[in-house]
Amino acid sequence: MTERPLPSIFELTPLNETYRVDPHTMLDDLRARCPAHRDPVSGSLVLTRYADVRAVVNDRGLWRDPIRAEEGAVMQRRFVTELDPSVPRTSTTSILMLDDPDHARVRQPLAQALYARVAKFKPEVERIIAEALDAVAGEPEFDLMARFCVPIPIDVIASILGVDHDRLGDFREWSEGVIQGLNPFRTPEQTAAMMAASEALNAYFTQAMAERRRTPRDDLISDMVQIQAGGADLSDDELRINLQALLVGGNLTTTDLIGNAVRLLIQNPGELAKLKADPGIINAVVEEVLRYDPPVDITGRIASGDMEAGGCPLRAGQAMTVVLRAANRDPDVFEDPHRFDVTRKHRPHVAFGGGAHICIGAPLARLEAQVALVRLFERFPDLKLAEPEATPEWRTLPFFRGMERMLVRP
Ligand code: HEM
Repeated sequence: MTERPLPSIFELTPLNETYRVDPHTMLDDLRARCPAHRDPVSGSLVLTRYADVRAVVNDRGLWRDPIRAEEGAVMQRRFVTELDPSVPRTSTTSILMLDDPDHARVRQPLAQALYARVAKFKPEVERIIAEALDAVAGEPEFDLMARFCVPIPIDVIASILGVDHDRLGDFREWSEGVIQGLNPFRTPEQTAAMMAASEALNAYFTQAMAERRRTPRDDLISDMVQIQAGGADLSDDELRINLQALLVGGNLTTTDLIGNAVRLLIQNPGELAKLKADPGIINAVVEEVLRYDPPVDITGRIASGDMEAGGCPLRAGQAMTVVLRAANRDPDVFEDPHRFDVTRKHRPHVAFGGGAHICIGAPLARLEAQVALVRLFERFPDLKLAEPEATPEWRTLPFFRGMERMLVRP
């Protein structure tokens, strides 16, 4: 009998219908047959076991910058082709793809300012979510993605940054455009749309930074220009590209966390009943959604010297792709991993990655999802899917998992 070929990382995306409908059958099979798979198509070592994924993301000595990947690491190198060598690397590259010392230099002040804002932002998140719920009140049926899951993260980050109300429409449009920055398979048209949105955002941030220097406000843009004026080693370009990274990194992901959570809770009425009986367990509910149906499937690292991952030797420049979704369902770590159980005790998921690059927006995403879910089911305790038998309309953006549309009835 001939062995079935192993899937390349490109087949492990929602562009492939088999994966889109049921990613876990493919991932379980890959983890069982070849947990450290040298994928010739993407030119990277694909890791699916929890222990290997955790070890790689936590290793602060590894590289992230695709410019350091060997030529054969085609998936990572796709991000390099659009670079202009005459511009400093940190002017065009966000912390997502920087290595130390630049990564630490830029991330540390940004994280400090962002975390301080998030810590006092719950009332504003409550307000934004209440407004979104008011807007659908009385409607017999509506698309929860378009009316609730998509606008909330955009409005929240806009408010944190200090975007004026009359620019919110533009800001929402630009946010949609820059998302393509996360798509390694984007078409030339999508790249053009992304570049146009990015330029518009840059112009917006340039103007906003100049305004905040003259008249500081109570927002993150003011925080960052003040930190810079206070002596932090941060250029204007670095501020702009990293403020933009908060949009790119934070919108679709949080949208999908909320959307995936609502679908899972409606489809698991026993688990939803536990939340309704005690909204105090919302933290555990969101963590179980992050484990069970994470919005981001993969992240990556690059070997910085001779090393081993998943038992495979690597040399400097060789790329690793870690499949967070597969790690989160590893039976060696999670008992009965395919059971959605909001009372699960052991939930050390890797939905936010780990180590030096661990998601900077995790506290904000958690806050938004926690408030959104509690308030949604409070307002609409009998919320149901309008088409419960229909296959969910999963989006086809590679490496992200969320729905295009989800019709619900209050
Ligand atoms: C549920 C929502 C979210 C998920 C699942 C998610 C997931 C991730 C993952 C997997 C990484 C890479 C970590 C690694 O390589 O170890 C990451 C990094 C990042 N995320 Fe998130 N994210 C979410 C929300 C957010 C939000 C709300 C923001 C912004 C406010 C954000 C901004 C970023 C940034 C800037 C990075 C790069 C950090 C670095 O490399 O130092 N994310 N995120």
